[in-house]
Amino acid sequence: KEYVLGMIGLGTMGRNLLLNMADHGFPVAGFDLDPQKAAQLEEEGAGNKVKGFSTIKDFVASLKSPRTIMMLVPAGKIVDSVIEELLPLIDQGDIIIDSGNSHFTDTNRRVEDLESKGFHFFGMGISGGEEGARRGPSMMPGGDKVAYKVVEPILEAISAKVNGEPCVTYIGPGASGHFVKMVHNGIEYGLMQLIAETYEVLKKGLKLDNEAIHQVFKEWNEGKLQSYLLEITRDIFAFKDKQTGELLLDLIKDQAKAKGTGKWTSQISMDLMLPITVIDTAVAMRDLSRYKELRIQAAAIYSKDESNGLQSEDQQAFIAKLEEAFYFSMIITYAQGMHLLMQASEEYAYGLDLAKIAKIWRGGCIIRAHFLDAIYKAFQKQPTLPHLLLDSQIESFIQESLPYIRSVVSKAAEQGIAMPAYAASLSYFDTLRSETMPDNLIQAQRDFFGAHTYELIGSEGTYHTNWEEK
Ligand code: 6PG
Repeated sequence: KEYVLGMIGLGTMGRNLLLNMADHGFPVAGFDLDPQKAAQLEEEGAGNKVKGFSTIKDFVASLKSPRTIMMLVPAGKIVDSVIEELLPLIDQGDIIIDSGNSHFTDTNRRVEDLESKGFHFFGMGISGGEEGARRGPSMMPGGDKVAYKVVEPILEAISAKVNGEPCVTYIGPGASGHFVKMVHNGIEYGLMQLIAETYEVLKKGLKLDNEAIHQVFKEWNEGKLQSYLLEITRDIFAFKDKQTGELLLDLIKDQAKAKGTGKWTSQISMDLMLPITVIDTAVAMRDLSRYKELRIQAAAIYSKDESNGLQSEDQQAFIAKLEEAFYFSMIITYAQGMHLLMQASEEYAYGLDLAKIAKIWRGGCIIRAHFLDAIYKAFQKQPTLPHLLLDSQIESFIQESLPYIRSVVSKAAEQGIAMPAYAASLSYFDTLRSETMPDNLIQAQRDFFGAHTYELIGSEGTYHTNWEEK
C-alpha cells in the first residue's frame, strides 16, 4: 500500500495526469485493462514512483488508505460499470473521483448513491487537453468538502499556476464541479464560434489570404484579446500539411463535430430560463455545418449574386473595428456563462464563488484569457454582482467597443456574411439594456388565443379578456 492515488483509464489524459503527479513527487498507480497501456505508463514514468496494473484487484490493493481513485474513462455507462466493479474492492471512506466530462445529473445520481453507501464521490472537471494534463491543467472538483482536503495537496501541486496560485479550488457540493466544467465548455463553444466567424469575415469579406489572417490573429493575441484559443488559431493559420505543403486548415472538411457539453449547457440554460444566446448560437451553427448537401443546394440558388464583400472598406480600419467587436462579443459570452453559473448556484444550492472560478480559469484551461482577470476582479469586488455587465470596469469596456460591434454586424449583414454569434451578442446586449421589452404584446397574444391570462402594471392578480368581443 504505497501509492497515494490510483487512476483508472490510462488513455492520454489519464496517463499524462499521473505522470504530472509523479513529477511532483507523488507515488501513483494506474490501471487499464490493456496491459500495453499499463506498460507505457511505467515506461514514460521511469525514474519516478509510478506503477501500471492491468488487474483491478492488484491495483486497488496497492493504494494507501483512504484510497483516492480517479477515473478518466469516457462519460456515460462506462463510468457506472467501473464504479460497480470497484465497490466490492474498496472501503467506506475511500474517495472516487470522476474526472471525465460526465453530465452533471449523472454525477448527482452517483453522489447520492455512493454517499449513502459511505463512499465519497467527486465529479471533477479537468480542462487543458493532453498538454494541460501533463504540464498543468485547470481543475474543478465538486463533492464532500472534508474529503477534498485529502486530495487538495495533489491537485494543487499538479495544476497550472497563475502568479504562483494554483488553478484549482473546491467548487462546491454534489455535482457542482461537473456543472462548472460544462459551462466552461459552453463558453469554449461560444468563443470558438466567434473566432470562426472572424475567419469568415476576414476571408469572405476582406478577402484576406491565410498569411494575412495569421497576422491578424497574431496581433490580436498580443493585446487585450490575448487568449489560448486565439493563440492556437494563430498557429493553425501557419501550419502546413507535410505532404502537400498546403495549409492543413484548407484541407479540413467544414463540418464540426461535438461531444455534447455545449448542447448540455444550452439545454440546462433553457431549463433554468437563463438565456445564453451566444452559446446557443454556437451549438446551432456547429449543427448547421453538418448539412453540407443542403448548403450546397441552397448556395446554388441564393449565392449567385454574391456581393463584393467588404472590399470597399479600408482594410486596416475594418480589422481594428473587428478587434473591438470581438472584444465586445467575447465579454458577452463570458458574461452569459457567469450568469448561468449564478442561477445554477441558487437553484441547486451550490454556493459557487464566481471570483474563485474566474481565478482558476485564468490558467491551464481552454478558455484562459487575459480578460478573465477582469472577471475575477469584478466578482472579487462584489461577490453578489447580479451580472458581469453591471460592473463599472466591464461597463467601460462595453461602452468603448459598442460602436464597433454595431458597425461590424451591420456591414456583415449588408454583405450577406454570416456572423450569427457576433449578432447574438449584440441583440442580447440591446435587449438587456432595455428597460421595457415588447413582451406585453406576447402576453396579450397568449391571452387572446389561449386565455393564458396576463398581469397588469400597478395591480395585483391575473386577468383575462375576451379579445374578440366587439
Ligand atoms: C477542455 C475541453 C475538453 C473537451 C473538448 C471537446 O476543457 O479541455 O473542453 O474537455 O472534451 O473541448 O469538446 P467537443 O468535442 O464537444 O468540441
